[in-house]
Order: sequence, then C-alpha cells, then structure tokens
Amino acid sequence: MRLYFLLPSSTIRSETKKTIKSIVGGQERVDVISRCLLNLYRWQKRTNQDFHLILYLSNPNELSAIYIPISSIRNELRSELDSLRELLAILSNPKEYGLKFEKIFFKELLKNLAKNSVFYYFTPEGKSLEEYDDTTIKEKSICFVLGSQHDLPQKQEEELFNIGASPISLGKRDYLASHVITIACYYFSKSRG
Ligand SMILES: C[S@@+](CC[C@H](N)C(=O)[O-])C[C@H]1O[C@@H](n2cnc3c(N)ncnc32)[C@H](O)[C@@H]1O
Repeated sequence: MRLYFLLPSSTIRSETKKTIKSIVGGQERVDVISRCLLNLYRWQKRTNQDFHLILYLSNPNELSAIYIPISSIRNELRSELDSLRELLAILSNPKEYGLKFEKIFFKELLKNLAKNSVFYYFTPEGKSLEEYDDTTIKEKSICFVLGSQHDLPQKQEEELFNIGASPISLGKRDYLASHVITIACYYFSKSRG
C-alpha cells in the first residue's frame, strides 16, 4: 500500500541559494517540509508502508512537483538537522539526487495521481476520521493533501474537490503540518493492524 502526502508550498523556490543557517532562520519555510520529511521517514521505518512525499512548488514561477519516495532517502535521518541536510541536497538538484522533478499544473498532478489513489484532504471543515468507512480506505493507494505553513488557496481546494477528495477534519484546533502527518499515520497504522 502506497501512502502519498502531497504538500503544496507557495514559498519554496527551486533556484534560490539555501544554507542550513538560512533555513533555520525561516527561509522560504523549508523547515516545515523538513519536519514532515523526518516524520514520514520515521513512520516508514515503524510501519513498513510505502510512503511518498510530494512537494508541490506552487509559486506562479515554479508550478512544479518533486516526488520523494521515502525509500530513496540516502542517509539515515536521526534528527531535524539530518533531515534539513537531506532536504537541502534534494532541493539543490532533485534530478541529481535521483528524484522525479517536473513542471506540472496542480490540476494535472491531481489527475495523474487520481488514476491509482483516493484523495483525502485535511481541513478543519471536513468530517472526522472515524466517520470514514475503513473498507473504502483500504481499496487503493491513498493521497493525503495538506497545507504547509499556509492553508491551500481556494483554487487548489476547488481542484481537489473536483476530483472527489474527501475532507478530513481533526477538529477546530490548528495543527502543524508535521503533526497532522503524525495523526494520519497513527490512525492508519492502527486501522490496518
Ligand atoms: C499549519 S496548518 C496551515 C496554516 C494555518 N491553518 C493558518 O493559516 O494559520 C497546516 C495544514 O494542516 C492541516 N490542518 C491543520 N489543522 C487541521 C485540523 N484541525 N483539521 C484538519 N486539517 C488540519 C491543514 O491542511 C493545514 O493547511
């Protein structure tokens, strides 16, 4: 079973110079994605599921996706710093790292993923996890979509709903993206035994 986590970021740029220091200082909020990467790496080790992070660069000058199968991470991630280093290597040249990087509209990306995956979109306006039928959830690969440091813009939300994404709410409290990933992984690893 494949589990995709699709995170659009409007701030990350592909060609800017980034260093550990600038990222720790908040540059382009790469730190948000780095925490998500570390989290997924740890869940992959715990559960043996096939996790993939898809980072969508939604700045109008980028409109591109980096596909990161967690199994392709080259070095062990033991800390946030390890994760930052790895993400820097990925962002500086995804292709050289061995990853797929392509220019693609968000709508097109969703259409491609929808061939093999069902979509769940994390939004406080959705239904609670328990309200979803576990059997549907087990049928296909799952693609979870969530905001990074910002919520998804209305257009991306509309595109998601147009391909039939089911909205999941974790209540009215606002969680960090990495925390949402933890909750999703915890829930799905339990429901799959
Ligand atoms: C840090 S939040 C985004 C920013 C935040 N909503 C804001 O603008 O103050 C990261 C993402 O996690 C998901 N999320 C956070 N809290 C949630 C909740 N209570 N229920 C469902 N999804 C949530 C949403 O997809 C959200 O865009």
